[in-house]
Amino acid sequence: MNAQDPVSRRRTFAIISHPDAGKTTLTEKLLLFGGAIQLAGEVRAKANRRQTRSDWMGIERERGISVVTSVMTFEYGGCVYNLLDTPGHEDFSEDTYRTLTAVDSAIMVIDAAKGIEARTRKLFEVCRLRDIPIVTFINKLDRETRDPFDILDEIEKTLALDVAPITWPLGRGRSFVGTYDLERKVVRRLDRDSEPTAVSGPDDPFIAGLLNEADFKEAREQIELASDGCKRFESQSFLEGHLTPVFFGSALRNFGVRDLIDALKDFAPPPHGLETASRMVDAREDKMTGFVFKIQANMDPNHRDRIAFMRVCSGKLKRGMKAKLVRTGKNIALNAPQFFFAQDRQLAEEAYAGDVVGIPNHGALRIGDTLTEGENLVFRGVPSFAPEILRRVKIGDAMKAKKLREALGQMGEEGVVQLFLPNDGSGAIVGVVGALQLDVLAERLAAEYGLDASFETSRFETCRWITSKTAPELDKFIRAHPSSMAADLDGAPVFMASSAWDLKYEQDKWPEIVFSDIKDYQ
Ligand code: G4P
Repeated sequence: MNAQDPVSRRRTFAIISHPDAGKTTLTEKLLLFGGAIQLAGEVRAKANRRQTRSDWMGIERERGISVVTSVMTFEYGGCVYNLLDTPGHEDFSEDTYRTLTAVDSAIMVIDAAKGIEARTRKLFEVCRLRDIPIVTFINKLDRETRDPFDILDEIEKTLALDVAPITWPLGRGRSFVGTYDLERKVVRRLDRDSEPTAVSGPDDPFIAGLLNEADFKEAREQIELASDGCKRFESQSFLEGHLTPVFFGSALRNFGVRDLIDALKDFAPPPHGLETASRMVDAREDKMTGFVFKIQANMDPNHRDRIAFMRVCSGKLKRGMKAKLVRTGKNIALNAPQFFFAQDRQLAEEAYAGDVVGIPNHGALRIGDTLTEGENLVFRGVPSFAPEILRRVKIGDAMKAKKLREALGQMGEEGVVQLFLPNDGSGAIVGVVGALQLDVLAERLAAEYGLDASFETSRFETCRWITSKTAPELDKFIRAHPSSMAADLDGAPVFMASSAWDLKYEQDKWPEIVFSDIKDYQ
């Protein structure tokens, strides 16, 4: 790491986990390390914890779930860490997938009693698609856990990922006293995390003094077995996403968190080149480029602003500069880009590759938008997924149809829902991955547009973006299905199918048409 080079000091990452594994707790502890939140934040009432984090939206308060994705920046040990938070609830998984397009690495949190759970696996798969290097944190060692080898084995088998334990737990559950660093032969104690003790090896009397006889025997045997039998950390395999360094700890007890921060600093990659439709953009290029991966409305209930979260991909963003919004060709002035520090935000005077800035705007920016200093570049990889639920939106007052269309357009651009406009002129259809998204939509239509909306099942069950190498064939298909075609927000043709069977039938019948369930923003 070069202290003079802002890019090499950046670490932009996310935490992936199954709900309840400890992501929120770990996030708080990471921020504490970086001094981004005060201790008072940590000790607030447990019951309030989730609500306090983002209490701007009624629906979150009611349900106690974190719906939104946000970013938190903190500095520690000379590095600037950008932690991109992801919603815990799987109904908002699209948000999470998009967020993962904006990180360079991820921490995978696993509950030591439960091992790999469904959502961890799914999120891991998204990381793998992009070869995102993963640092693993096995959490809750202060509770009864499974055997560490058992968990490592499960990671290797279910995720097809090599594991390289860096630390090893000394005792578990009530007798958990700390960890042993396999490589450096250093013991960290649960109650004195900041004062590591160098030891001669796993049979050092210092360790014997921390554990009862049976636990000491087990720890010693396991450490010897792990040192001999487990893979060693190897940077190249990690960076390619084939191997994960593993740490054990307890987020609740603030133990092992320091290891993770250090691992991000020492092992995780700084921002690197990113692919656009036309060329690779290097993080160290002079000119500023970036893409929008998230839009968040109503962060501040007093100001109905919309914040577009942009990852800077190269160059230097300076407050007040003009940037070209490639989709429209128009310039926008970046007068008030912001950094986020847990609850606070602050004007970003300058930002570098890897940083995430919030750009307040009134609907000019969309998910997937690229901003540059003039070049027509479009970053790839902020995908849309075919929704699993399709609904027709109904409003009580027919006079408000135009307003509804406008509101739905805006919600579509923010990625709250996907919007499909049927070619036959019938009412708009919204698509979501999870039903909670519909609740968020209804709440926002009411709060921001005064629209009282309800949702009706549509006769369509699923949909696919369609393309074809031969334009006439595509035309022919569209003309043959006048009442099953719609356009998405960008006007791209979408085939609406009444059932999986219907879709399969059309796919077999029209071999030259490509039916796609993922659409990259272009
Ligand atoms: P999440 O964001 O991944 O959903 O998890 P979160 O941090 O909210 O943690 C879920 C529960 O697990 C919390 O308990 C939290 O205190 C606990 N937890 C997190 N890390 C540790 C750890 O290292 N050790 C122990 N013993 N507990 C940990 P909670 O608020 O009481 O919720 P619940 O248990 O009633 O669900």
